[in-house]
Amino acid sequence: MTDQYAVIGNPVAHSKSPLIHAEFARQTGQDISYTALLAPREGLRAAVFAFRDGGGKGMNVTLPFKHEAWDLVTAHQGYALAAGAVNTLEFHGSEIIGHNTDGIGLVRDLQDNLRCSIRARRVLLMGAGGASYGVMEPLLREQPDELVVANRTLDKAVALVAHFEKFQAFAPRGITVRGYASLRGERFDVLINATSASLSNEMPPLPEDIFAAGALAYDMVYGGTTPFLEFARARGAQTADGTGMLVEQAAESFLIWRGVRPDTAPVIALLRRA
Ligand code: ATR
Repeated sequence: MTDQYAVIGNPVAHSKSPLIHAEFARQTGQDISYTALLAPREGLRAAVFAFRDGGGKGMNVTLPFKHEAWDLVTAHQGYALAAGAVNTLEFHGSEIIGHNTDGIGLVRDLQDNLRCSIRARRVLLMGAGGASYGVMEPLLREQPDELVVANRTLDKAVALVAHFEKFQAFAPRGITVRGYASLRGERFDVLINATSASLSNEMPPLPEDIFAAGALAYDMVYGGTTPFLEFARARGAQTADGTGMLVEQAAESFLIWRGVRPDTAPVIALLRRA
């Protein structure tokens, strides 16, 4: 029998996950169906339970439900525990196991696809919302020299860093919080935009000379260029949007569910052509 999976969100019609998982299934010969499920804003729990009770094996969770899903699961595994957010659910009888594959997706894209090492580099993470919570632990475990978190609202960055304090030691120079204005004169090797600025065609207020020689500018938003990536490209940095992260996080979910790791390169290429 075909095993059923779905991505649940609101909105969800734009999601590329059904296409990605259909490609993974075809490539690996797995008999699964994968659909997009729109849940009412107040209706995550009911929709997840209905899908599971109808025979569903697992789900991906997208905005705005990743945090709420954390409260719904019966056990947190891997990076989900510290992230406080869940993007992958596995159903085992009455157990709902929650994972977060977003951060590992980012790290894989940076290191394996873009050949950008994090270890001993100066990393700037912009934003202190849900997207940043999802990637902090996996980024720190790669041992950057220093991780600087910048945000317009400093209190939110302070809270984020406090939340991940126990991972401080992974970065020899630690984690620091900065306002954008105080970044003048600083240079970074890896700059990650985890803000939602690109969605409104804006970018964080970065100084002109923020890019070290050979820097990589990464925008977690996918689907082409963004003001941040344009800014970076015009200043000689290498750039990447979040397409690779999207496919890599999906591959990690697929591995959790099916026990096989799909080949991500052809799927990333497919999405870039679409
Ligand atoms: P979520 O938790 O759903 O990711 P959020 O908490 O609203 O959403 O976080 C969005 C992030 O993008 C925040 O860090 C926000 O900065 P503030 O906390 O200062 O509001 C950041 N952000 C959004 N638009 C931005 C912009 N134009 N420039 C810089 N940062 C921006």
